[in-house]
Amino acid sequence: MSETAKFVLGDKTHEFPVHVGTENEKGIDISTLRGSSGYVTYDVGYKNTGATKSSITYISGEEGILRYRGYNIEELANKASFLEVAYLLLEGELPTASELSSFEEEITRHTLVNEKLKFVFDALPSGAHPMGQLMTMLSMFSAYYPEALNPHRSEEGRKLTIIRLLAKMPTLVAMIMKNKQGHPNVYPKNKLGYVENFLRMTFGHVTEDYTIDPVVVSAMNKLLILHADHEQNCSTSAVRLVGSSNANLYASVGAGVAALWGPLHGGANQKVLEMLEAIKDDGGDTDKWLNKAKDKNDPFRLMGFGHRVYKNFDPRAKIIKKSADEILEKMGINDPILEIAKKLEQAALNDSYFIDRKLFPNVDFYSGIIYRALGFPVEMFTVLFALGRLPGWMAQWKELRAEGQPIGRPRQIYIGTAERPFLDVNKR
Ligand code: SDX
Repeated sequence: MSETAKFVLGDKTHEFPVHVGTENEKGIDISTLRGSSGYVTYDVGYKNTGATKSSITYISGEEGILRYRGYNIEELANKASFLEVAYLLLEGELPTASELSSFEEEITRHTLVNEKLKFVFDALPSGAHPMGQLMTMLSMFSAYYPEALNPHRSEEGRKLTIIRLLAKMPTLVAMIMKNKQGHPNVYPKNKLGYVENFLRMTFGHVTEDYTIDPVVVSAMNKLLILHADHEQNCSTSAVRLVGSSNANLYASVGAGVAALWGPLHGGANQKVLEMLEAIKDDGGDTDKWLNKAKDKNDPFRLMGFGHRVYKNFDPRAKIIKKSADEILEKMGINDPILEIAKKLEQAALNDSYFIDRKLFPNVDFYSGIIYRALGFPVEMFTVLFALGRLPGWMAQWKELRAEGQPIGRPRQIYIGTAERPFLDVNKR
């Protein structure tokens, strides 16, 4: 007998089925609640609401587990390439050698963006935030690749749109970086791997060849994998909600970029670096800043700390922290910011305010230290998060389409003014 949930509402008892997931997570199916009782549920921020079933990513906040299609993030981050992980998220299985090589070959055929996009960049003020530039360019894709606007196009057509976006995103991100520097673009060189090509387009110059450093490639590969998907987070939920209206992939991913930009979400990686710099400039007094974070009258929060799901530790933060030490040492970089970050973490993890609220470093706390060591300016950090998250967004969008889910349309509890008659302006 499968489990059910009974709600006693007024003088009636309503019974609802309970769905049980692979890892024994349980969800009460209330899809008939309003029809049978007139009630809706109320859950601001969807803290207790499951929006969908999904086979892509599993997170356990209590045990600090993150798995893409059943593979632990620790294994993927240390053993896989980013394109292997992208294939895994999109197709559900790790590719065989021949599948991977044809996937990589398909990607290399679509790395160029339409040359006219340069004129769009020219129209953007050089100080435009990279996330705003990325949103602009993604909306331009719907103009340059109009065939993608038909959500009912063939499976092959939808696959091409996904491949195209995966292939062009590194080129777009590199163009955003060059636009900010006022430097000419470096075009993709398709004999290079995905990450190598991205690094060369970003840090290479038309005046000299770019020397590929395996340490940098490995660090970038790992960071992209660690950001590749994260279940129904804010930006992925935005991608799914927009996709549920049959909007095209570019519009849906653009919505994901918009949501990710927020400092409470992906924008936190930029805010963490700015926070650590401020603490350094303020003499490195971490206790003073921890007290600010604890003070309810102070809007300051410890950026990179806390998570809606992880109430033990964020496995990604652990991997990134270890990598930060390794990469900075291999690159011969002594960044005082890393020591401040570690001191801040140590102090917070021994402070009852953070312990009681189960606040630990999240994926954004240490990632910026590595991005900066690799040579990225702080304003590019969240775009790099989007570059990593792209295959996850597209896998979630693809899953939503495959299941033919209905348009997302939550209800509400109205607390505004009751009915009243319209009065002529002279009688108000
Ligand atoms: C990401 O969802 C995902 O999976 C996201 C992500 C992904 O991969 O997609 O993991 C990526 O977005 C990571 C999170 C990055 N954001 C930050 O680092 C910003 C700082 N963190 C917080 O703003 C906060 O922790 C959130 C937004 C991450 C989570 O917020 P919740 O779950 O809504 O928790 P809350 O705001 O209700 O906080 C609970 C308590 C509150 O105190 P009380 O009212 O109970 O006294 O904890 C306090 C909060 O004030 N709190 C913090 C804090 N985070 C929470 N206090 C100080 N500093 C913080 N960082």
